[in-house]
Amino acid sequence: MVDRFELGEDYALKLDADDPLAVFKNRFYPIKGSIYMDGNSLGLMSKDAEETLLRVLNEWKTLGIGGWGKAKIPWISYAEKLGDMEAPLVGASPGEVVVTGGTTVNLHTLVATFYQPEGKRRKILADELNFPSDHYALYAQIKLRGGDPEKDLVIVKSRDGHIMEEDDIIKEMTDEVQLALLPSVWYKSGQLADIERLTKAAHSKGIIIGFDCSHSVGVVPHKFNEWNVDFAFWCNYKYVNGGPGSTGSLYVNRRHWGTRPGLAGWFGNNRSTMFDMVNRFDPEKDASAYEIGTTTMLSTAPIEGSLRVMKEAGIQRIREKSEKITSYLIYLIDEQLTAKPYSYGINTPRNVERRGGHVGVVHKEGWRINQALIARGVIPDFRPPNTIRLAPIPLYVSYHDVWKVAQHLKAVIDTKEYQNYSEDKSTVT
Ligand SMILES: Cc1ncc(COP(=O)(O)O)c(C=O)c1O
Repeated sequence: MVDRFELGEDYALKLDADDPLAVFKNRFYPIKGSIYMDGNSLGLMSKDAEETLLRVLNEWKTLGIGGWGKAKIPWISYAEKLGDMEAPLVGASPGEVVVTGGTTVNLHTLVATFYQPEGKRRKILADELNFPSDHYALYAQIKLRGGDPEKDLVIVKSRDGHIMEEDDIIKEMTDEVQLALLPSVWYKSGQLADIERLTKAAHSKGIIIGFDCSHSVGVVPHKFNEWNVDFAFWCNYKYVNGGPGSTGSLYVNRRHWGTRPGLAGWFGNNRSTMFDMVNRFDPEKDASAYEIGTTTMLSTAPIEGSLRVMKEAGIQRIREKSEKITSYLIYLIDEQLTAKPYSYGINTPRNVERRGGHVGVVHKEGWRINQALIARGVIPDFRPPNTIRLAPIPLYVSYHDVWKVAQHLKAVIDTKEYQNYSEDKSTVT
């Protein structure tokens, strides 16, 4: 899809008037006085998410422990019910997705299950640009199995520090690698992986492959089953708008059902016998076998409402707008803000098919510019050494918002406002 854009404010307003998703902005609570460009870190609260959370709170108030069996969606099966609601976002079938645990916890669960070092196949393949928590967890998993992470964790390097070349990853898929774990979208640059190609390459070498889809679920459609992905996990607090620290999700392809969970707990037990309280673990037959403990109802309930909004909007339409609005943002920067004195760059792939939902704007003064933008009411975030991440979330960011963000990027340089801020990077953004 090639769009031709124009620079004027009127044109931004015209794009909004033609936007089929514009109506969804009203379903979310805006942050007063701000343009929210950080929904790839923490999505905004929707009225629907608030409603389902309040319903569950009320169920707790009125039913007490009875909520496990008598709530509108009985809590005992809530993780699986929400998993089935979420499955279409990732191209999965019922039973393959559960809403459970947290992102890093689910990584541990799945790697503990599918990392089976044997003979000379002992290595885990990862890449240097994946989120640090994934690195820490993989390192720990190898150690738990008595391996040496310095040897057994193969980290593919980026050629330029921003982009991972899939050819370089595939080259490292040797017969010593047992498992590969990669992100679907790289969290700094917003590069979108070719999951199908990587999966095919891994399988051709007998390697199990899983994906951290934290930065793609809710903004990019997936076809896990068609692509034959082995397993995946993701955050629900980013593009799925499930709330701060909300419960994560995991996917296990049905051909792996029956693989004994590496980390077992009673919520992974056969539901019909779990209250028999016998000490021998009898795992469920589907992905719910990989649940561990009691469903964290209050951190899960907002996801129900969020998924309702996503279903109404449709993931294809969300992706279409995301492609267009990120292209528009890149256009505004390219056309007006790359030459001196602005000197902004973009580290996100220009090919929309290789781009997730955010745009990485680079500048040598990125940290101070980020602070100046926040003072002006733009909420981005910053990732070292110099990337300002801007996420025009299709459900609640308008083209006019993006136009205004470009004006702010320009103004903080014109006025030299950024020079008023400290270079100390000790605060969280
Ligand atoms: C790509 C990615 N993976 C993993 C995590 C860690 O998630 P959690 O803190 O929920 O375990 C994050 C958090 O932002 C992330 O962006």
